[in-house]
Amino acid sequence: MAARVLDGEAVAKAIRLEVAAGVADLCARGMTRPRLAVVLAGENLASQVYVRNKIKACGEVGIDSELVRLEGSRDSGRTLAAVQELNRRDEVDGILVQLPLPDDANETRILHSLDPAKDVDGLHPENVGRMVEGAEGLRPCTPSGILELLKRSDIEVDGKRAVVLGRSAIVGKPMAILLLHANATVTICHSRTRQLAEVSRSAEILVAAVGKPAFVTEAHVTPGATVVDVGIHRVTNEEQAAELFGRDSRQVAAFREGKNLLVGDVHARRVAPVAGALSPVPGGVGPLTIACLLQNTLQAARVRRGLPAHR
Ligand code: GUN
Repeated sequence: MAARVLDGEAVAKAIRLEVAAGVADLCARGMTRPRLAVVLAGENLASQVYVRNKIKACGEVGIDSELVRLEGSRDSGRTLAAVQELNRRDEVDGILVQLPLPDDANETRILHSLDPAKDVDGLHPENVGRMVEGAEGLRPCTPSGILELLKRSDIEVDGKRAVVLGRSAIVGKPMAILLLHANATVTICHSRTRQLAEVSRSAEILVAAVGKPAFVTEAHVTPGATVVDVGIHRVTNEEQAAELFGRDSRQVAAFREGKNLLVGDVHARRVAPVAGALSPVPGGVGPLTIACLLQNTLQAARVRRGLPAHR
């Protein structure tokens, strides 16, 4: 049995439509459109693509946006100054500092300098604390998107055993907390976890956010489990493409023609026959992260205009 494919694009589209309706609602009340500022420091090529996609997505739902591009920035100075300026500007509702920052920048100091009311990534300690409490606040986009994907794909979380692979501040840790609030029994695995495959096999819901291409195989997945793949990596050579997709696959043919191939943290060809449901890469979690960023920007704008966080 092949796993059901969890259609991130479709769920993201539904969320984007809701956000567009929310923006129209603000306009109908005579209020200004939400505005997102994205800060991009340094030269990371993948980040440049992500940021372009975020800005484009804003336009599609009626959210105003601006890019603060800090080329050649290596340390925290210019980024801190940019954040302070955006904190001050009343017309800016959301601020996103694209990660990773350049090596010499102090990420903690920069994230702590954000106005929590504008922190659409939910990474400021005030928002992290609110999330842990279960109080209202801005939540990290990728874990929120994954919960939306599960909910809107009718995958029950309540009472389920969930395993999160990875403990990053942006995905693993908040994912575990949000799953816990949705009444899952949650385990977090990381690089020091012993018998990781065995622990993973206890999962009815397995979230892979380890940052290693095709790390999760059939050895990690119990039959029928839901597997969510957070990773996104470029396939670098034909041997790797053949191992991932099969020597005679259309992906290998595409790779030979010079097309970019992506792979997640899950070895989909080996996991799909075992799993009950699997989020694809691309087209799974990626579009949801952006959709939830738009949701958070609308939420920040509503709260800053004295409205309830959600309609
Ligand atoms: N880099 C990769 N994913 C993200 C994200 O969700 N937010 C930010 N700020 N940077 C990222």
